[in-house]
Amino acid sequence: MTGRFEGRVALVTGGAHGIGAATVRRLHDEGATVVVADVDPDAARRAVDALPPRAGGAPASVVGCDIRDSASVDAAVATTLERHGRLDVLVGVAGGTGVHAGLLDGMDDATWAAGVDLNLAGPARCVRAAAPHLPRGGAIVLVGSVNGLQAFGDEDYSAAKAGLVSLAQNLAVRLGRRGVRINVVAPGTVRTRVWTDRADPDRLAPLYPLGRVGEPEDVAAAIAFLASDDAAWITGVTLPVDGGVLAGPLAHFETLGGGGDPAADVSDR
Ligand SMILES: NC(=O)c1ccc[n+]([C@@H]2O[C@H](COP(=O)([O-])OP(=O)(O)OC[C@H]3O[C@@H](n4cnc5c(N)ncnc54)[C@H](O)[C@@H]3O)[C@@H](O)[C@H]2O)c1
Repeated sequence: MTGRFEGRVALVTGGAHGIGAATVRRLHDEGATVVVADVDPDAARRAVDALPPRAGGAPASVVGCDIRDSASVDAAVATTLERHGRLDVLVGVAGGTGVHAGLLDGMDDATWAAGVDLNLAGPARCVRAAAPHLPRGGAIVLVGSVNGLQAFGDEDYSAAKAGLVSLAQNLAVRLGRRGVRINVVAPGTVRTRVWTDRADPDRLAPLYPLGRVGEPEDVAAAIAFLASDDAAWITGVTLPVDGGVLAGPLAHFETLGGGGDPAADVSDR
């Protein structure tokens, strides 16, 4: 593992579980000092305690934070600066669909507002609080979704995730002048508790041209790339991390039956 983040401080929202926890591990392994900002600080503490020991750099730490609350977000950024004197990377992972069915029809205003607040206004609050402190070479990565790029249901959530695409474009133009980048990753189905708590995510594998659903580490690797200097000339983009599902769901191809037998091409998977 290269030390792409040695000497850098990263604030990761939603780092207690799933994609966020994998991102914390990845950035930590690559040398970052990570501050985990999560509404579930006990789980965040467990995630930090599970990190492998490292020779150099300040250890990872936790700050309780609810991205639905501006004061809480501002305090998390202030705490990071107090602890480490700098902030180089913001990763906005916190978000989710909640428990409702997610169809606009019959959705009450409060449910709509809650979905947009968590998935669009929340990350925007984090960007607003962190961006002024990011130095030249600093980077922001937000976690969107394939739902923000194509119709997959959960309509409040999807519209909010689509909003992140525009937010990143607008901020990329303004922040680029001072050498700060902002990008979005758009994962497909990723094996986290969001899926495993209710059903086997592997049932969705046939939708994916690469023949499997994603693992949190697949997304963490893309986040680390976009946050690193390897992506120094990339800003304002949304990168699908989706096993190819946006290129064309394999199941659709099989249903259409055109162009031969797709199974013949993928029989070695
Ligand atoms: N799992 C998937 O298939 C998938 C697909 C596309 C996008 N995503 C997105 O990836 C992100 C992470 O999803 P996950 O599957 O790892 O979910 P998860 O529930 O495992 O993790 C979400 C984390 O965010 C934290 N969190 C939730 N609300 C918060 C708040 N208001 N303030 C601060 N922290 C909060 C949780 O405590 C948890 O640690 C979400 O934004 C989600 O929309 C997930």
